[in-house]
Amino acid sequence: MKIHKTADYETMGRKAADIVAAQITLKPDSVLGLATGSTPLGLYARLVERHKAGELDFARVRTVNLDEYEGLAAAHPQSYRFYMEQNLFSKTGICPGNTHLPDGLAADPAAECARYDAVIRGFGGIDLQLLGIGHDGHIGFNEPGGHFENDTHVAVLTPETIDANKRFFTSAAEVPRRAYTMGIRPIMLAGRVLVVVSGVDKADIVRRAFSGPVTPAVPASILQMHRDVTLVGDEAALGKLL
Ligand code: PGA
Repeated sequence: MKIHKTADYETMGRKAADIVAAQITLKPDSVLGLATGSTPLGLYARLVERHKAGELDFARVRTVNLDEYEGLAAAHPQSYRFYMEQNLFSKTGICPGNTHLPDGLAADPAAECARYDAVIRGFGGIDLQLLGIGHDGHIGFNEPGGHFENDTHVAVLTPETIDANKRFFTSAAEVPRRAYTMGIRPIMLAGRVLVVVSGVDKADIVRRAFSGPVTPAVPASILQMHRDVTLVGDEAALGKLL
């Protein structure tokens, strides 16, 4: 595993953007696995800047996002489709047809999971998968106690995840209880994995994920078995890594 420790959130975003930009430059039709949440916002802002400066061409980039809340329409301000449109897609000239997320309003969840797996398989897998880590060790919405071999499935959010995500909603009651998530399998099959972490509140889970035992109780711990992981984090988040 490669580790880049940065002074703060700002430089974490810049370093992570360097890595994603290099991926796109070297392979302009890269399949990027993308993540939402607070942590990647700086990285996305830097990528948008580079695109606007004429340094980075997204025309052939293809994307598959990790997850989407069940029951939220694409236009819902808390849907992950909305987040991606706001923070990256609409600002980088990426071809809308090249961007993929699960459909939160799909009538048949099992069929939607199968459709999403077929999208990923159709791409021949993911070149670079971006990940944040939840305080409970989740990646995507692969919550503790799940199976490493899972493909796309509907996850029941843990109370901890609902609590962490309620900041984006008017109350915890409004946070959807279920979400579509890419499974661990396609993440582990990705050519490269880029993990971004920031803040002292992530220090314990970063230590458990990367210095502790590999266990479904800490889903991110499986990344210790991936052949090409880069961890980019600020000093606060990496402070307890052994
Ligand atoms: P965060 O979320 O970036 O908002 O901390 C990470 C996650 O839950 O995967």
